[in-house]
Amino acid sequence: MPDNQLPIDVVVLAAGKGTRMYSDIPKVLHPIGGRPMAQHVVDAALLLGDVQLHVVVGHEATLVQQALEGVASFVEQSEQLGTGHAVAQALPALREGALTLVLYGDVPLITTATLEKMVQACSTAQMSLLTVSLDDPQGYGRICRDSAGNVTSIVEQKDANSEQLGICEVNTGIMCMTQQQLAKWLPALGNNNAQGEYYLTDVVEMAVSDGVGVTAINASSVEEVEGVNNKLQLATLERCYQRQCAEALMLAGTTLADPSRIDIRGSLQVGRDVYIDVNAVFTGDVVLGDNVSIGANCVVHESEIGANTQLLSHCSLDRAKLASDCVIGPYARLRPGTELGSKAKIGNFVEVKNSSFGEGSKANHLAYVGDSEVGSGCNIGAGTITCNYDGAYKHKTRMGDNVFIGSNSTLVAPIDIEDNGFVAAGSTINQQVPKGNLAVGRAKQKNISGWKRPKKD
Ligand code: UD1
Ligand code: CA
Repeated sequence: MPDNQLPIDVVVLAAGKGTRMYSDIPKVLHPIGGRPMAQHVVDAALLLGDVQLHVVVGHEATLVQQALEGVASFVEQSEQLGTGHAVAQALPALREGALTLVLYGDVPLITTATLEKMVQACSTAQMSLLTVSLDDPQGYGRICRDSAGNVTSIVEQKDANSEQLGICEVNTGIMCMTQQQLAKWLPALGNNNAQGEYYLTDVVEMAVSDGVGVTAINASSVEEVEGVNNKLQLATLERCYQRQCAEALMLAGTTLADPSRIDIRGSLQVGRDVYIDVNAVFTGDVVLGDNVSIGANCVVHESEIGANTQLLSHCSLDRAKLASDCVIGPYARLRPGTELGSKAKIGNFVEVKNSSFGEGSKANHLAYVGDSEVGSGCNIGAGTITCNYDGAYKHKTRMGDNVFIGSNSTLVAPIDIEDNGFVAAGSTINQQVPKGNLAVGRAKQKNISGWKRPKKD
């Protein structure tokens, strides 16, 4: 940003109802990449630097306010009388001597780079307008220019004559002008048009008659100015956003089996030489260390995965923390509070919750480990269940180092199995196992000779 840049006030229009979403959620709160659309707009604007944000809210105002609390201030537009009327509601909050940048809460993929251009092209003598040329300009305001190519006005689809309808350069709605100009032009807007609305777009004609130049900036892609009015457009922009994320990852060195089959709904931080197979979904903040490999169909939420760790296919991780060189899955479920030391192994159909595993400890097949502290070098056999819940309270299971739990054992918590403790297969354990002891908690086997099998007559 140049030093002589005026301060920037950003007005985000977000009062509309979004009828065509057929949803109880306000339109601007529908997510793209796990973040509400309006949040994308706000985030892009905040990257401009020192800006003040004002969001014009109307429909479901409190929900929108809650979602954006802390980053913006809010102006209520109780009746939606048009885009000009919406900006007018924010006018008293705008700083004298500042630029006003108008953005739309339902145009989520706008880039900071384009906003920078808009701001740079704007001064007391010049307003800026973001336009784009479309093969099908249906529904948009058309950009009218004189014979010299200067922008003279914007005419809305519903007010346009047949010649104007043929114009393919359209208004994206995003514009920038000084507070002083807005303060002069907004009160002069009328609503004598096909929609009976106060059009913000009418300020362009006022600028021209006041001798203020209008600079049309071209959007760098169609998707950055595309708005969302229905779920089809929401899904289309979701794919655009995901493709952008995938491209950024690959350009930063991550190998993706298929860039069209990864979903990032939050932030994904990756080390070097990370490999991600198809249909991985990352939500919230996820961190992958160097050489991490993510198998097909894994869902990872708010987790940290250490270097060289492999998630085999079909794993679900939720708020788990994995050290380096672990092998997980296929089909493992790591629930909140799972913390694995290095070289731990959690195999197929194993569920771990609120438990820590020390270095090299394993639960390779079909087990439930909940509310447990497992030391290092332990082996938890197939079918082992920690019975952590008595119907009222949760209890802890503690295993020291090098503990061996034979297959199909039930460990009734609270329970303590000390270092080198060994539980015989099929045991139900409800008392402490001292250091190095073998615990056998099962009925003795009885063999009956000469037994005759039942037979059909
Ligand atoms: C507007 C522009 C049109 C442009 C198009 C781009 C005007 C008059 N027209 O038309 O030139 O091509 O956007 O998408 O500006 N909003 C409010 N309060 C209101 C009215 C609207 O907050 O009273 C918000 C809506 O929630 C929406 C945005 O402003 O986010 C645009 O409103 P919309 O009614 O969709 O404008 P368009 O008719 O599409
Ligand atoms: Ca619209």
